[in-house]
Amino acid sequence: MKIGCPKEVKPQEFRVGLTPNAAQEAVAHGHGVMIQTGAGAGAGFDDADYAAAGARIVETADEVFATADMIVKVKEPQPAERKMLREGQLLFTYLHLAPDPGQTHDLLASGCTAIAYETVTDDRGGLPLLAPMSEVAGRLAPQVGAWTLQKANGGRGVLMGGVPGVGPARVLVIGGGVVGTHAARIAAGMGAEVTVLDRSLPRLRYLDDAFGAQFRTGYSSSGLLAEHLGEADMVIGAVLIPGAEAPKLVKRAQFAQMKPGAALVDVAIDQGGCFETSKPTTHADPIYDVDGIMHYCVANMPGAVARTSTIALGNATMPFMLALADKGWRQACTDDPHLLNGLNVHAGTLTYYAVGRALGINVVSPQLAIKT
Ligand SMILES: NC(=O)c1ccc[n+]([C@@H]2O[C@H](COP(=O)([O-])OP(=O)(O)OC[C@H]3O[C@@H](n4cnc5c(N)ncnc54)[C@H](O)[C@@H]3O)[C@@H](O)[C@H]2O)c1
Repeated sequence: MKIGCPKEVKPQEFRVGLTPNAAQEAVAHGHGVMIQTGAGAGAGFDDADYAAAGARIVETADEVFATADMIVKVKEPQPAERKMLREGQLLFTYLHLAPDPGQTHDLLASGCTAIAYETVTDDRGGLPLLAPMSEVAGRLAPQVGAWTLQKANGGRGVLMGGVPGVGPARVLVIGGGVVGTHAARIAAGMGAEVTVLDRSLPRLRYLDDAFGAQFRTGYSSSGLLAEHLGEADMVIGAVLIPGAEAPKLVKRAQFAQMKPGAALVDVAIDQGGCFETSKPTTHADPIYDVDGIMHYCVANMPGAVARTSTIALGNATMPFMLALADKGWRQACTDDPHLLNGLNVHAGTLTYYAVGRALGINVVSPQLAIKT
């Protein structure tokens, strides 16, 4: 198979769909790999790394799209990229179609087959191609929160670990899933006193078993949340209700009870945010102040650490990418129902029910689509 990887064109996107290691694996499996010049630069990989891996470097995205059987990317195709997709071509990338009718219609019109990273599943009910980015955002959250807490940034001027004779920062993590667990671990590792609230008792049991005394856990109720808010120097929002907008768990009226200069890091901002006052920000201008409470609400946190994120994503996508290349998408999806769950679009039909419901478009089951 000819595998093509263009340079990402979405603003502020520095990741790349294929690492040199992934390219090398694909070449070792007998496939041809084509990468657009400079595609890996933002993640610290230069053309020579890809050439050494056996990939062919091409000048333009047009060349990649015109030649490749499978396009491997990071972000959803932008309008100019969608025009280059063609019938029978396989697209393997993040899509997030439900809130994006324009992209959905373009993908349907192109006749391509599109497998979305975010809907591929695993045996434990998880989302293996979304998890690495949650791990990155979770581990980054205390780091950016600590920066936000610095006085010059408008924060309270509190050091995460304190010093001998001065107590540590208190960090409240709301939501103990992938983001929350990684955030709590890092915050505790920085020496902060950490509490994680979740609504799932099995999750709280897991956290208690796995992390013991590293941090405390609590059942998320509005009463307990209010109690902890008054004590917190930093609050990390990490809730997710799958398929729904994030619940607004902290209201502006509650800021009066909080410590002035406390930091709110709303990782759930990509689902609308879990603080009433959250609005998406960018890496260029990440924080803002509401009533003396500092908000960090960057919607693509992993982009700040593009190299780590690219390698983490590549580790997760590589086995699927190789299966698709080795067997073709039909056989790969027949052999692996979790990969089939990633099928969103095939030959002009939508194959993912939640997207169809959100956009009012008829859906053909992926099991049926695979036969056409
Ligand atoms: N901003 C970014 O760059 C970025 C990056 C990665 C992930 N995210 C987002 O972070 C959020 C969390 O992702 P995740 O992978 O950890 O999800 P997850 O499903 O692993 O965890 C979510 C947790 O929230 C809990 N929860 C639900 N309602 C709650 C409530 N009312 N109170 C307390 N806990 C509650 C769930 O029980 C679950 O344990 C998602 O919105 C995700 O899209 C953002």
